[in-house]
Amino acid sequence: MTGRFITFEGIDGAGKSTHLPACAQFLRARGVVVLLTREPGGTELAEAIRDWFLHRPADPQTEALLAFAARSDHLARSIRPALAAGEWAVCDRFTDSTVAYQGGGRGIGIERVEQLEQWLHPDLQPDRTYLFDLDPEQAARRRAMARAADRFESEDVGFFERVRQAYQARVAADVRQHGAGRGRIVVVDASRGPGEIWKILEEDLISCCSTWTPR
Ligand code: TYD
Repeated sequence: MTGRFITFEGIDGAGKSTHLPACAQFLRARGVVVLLTREPGGTELAEAIRDWFLHRPADPQTEALLAFAARSDHLARSIRPALAAGEWAVCDRFTDSTVAYQGGGRGIGIERVEQLEQWLHPDLQPDRTYLFDLDPEQAARRRAMARAADRFESEDVGFFERVRQAYQARVAADVRQHGAGRGRIVVVDASRGPGEIWKILEEDLISCCSTWTPR
């Protein structure tokens, strides 16, 4: 039996984080065993990498490799065993983030990051990805009202424009591969209020739960 893999993505300030626990709670209420986790992080080693990643300098290439080193451990020790046991993994960010932040934002290139993706998990993609899409100016205003910024959150609007564009390239590739409305990525208009967004997620989760058959 194999569980399902759901990820949440978006630029900092788009507001995805409040919906992750709600998603886990929703699934648990339907009898699903859920691993709620995050990237970088989710294991002792990956959390140690996260600490460096968010707070200390590294060149863009090293950043990408750190993200994948953390992901390698997270996949091996946490996500893959959970999925193999039939649990569902709900993860705050995954490889789309490295494509967007290091590939787009830092400029190392989407293809380079996708090479690492092919190396580490050619066999595994999320079943569903909720991409919280928001204008970077609006996201910056939201971040200004939140807590102290880490290394990424303090980047300028231009950086987040590039991150957003790289996310959009992943959406376009997903549509090319699976057809419009049939891919893994659901783009959520993050300028809407949290109640409205939750309704969209809830509806999609209900339809996923009813159409996904055990594999
Ligand atoms: P996140 O957990 O969303 O931050 P927070 O807990 O502050 O809401 O993400 C951590 C940061 O790391 C975020 O700015 C995006 C960045 N990041 C990358 O640059 N590359 C990656 O591969 C991942 C997973 C995250």
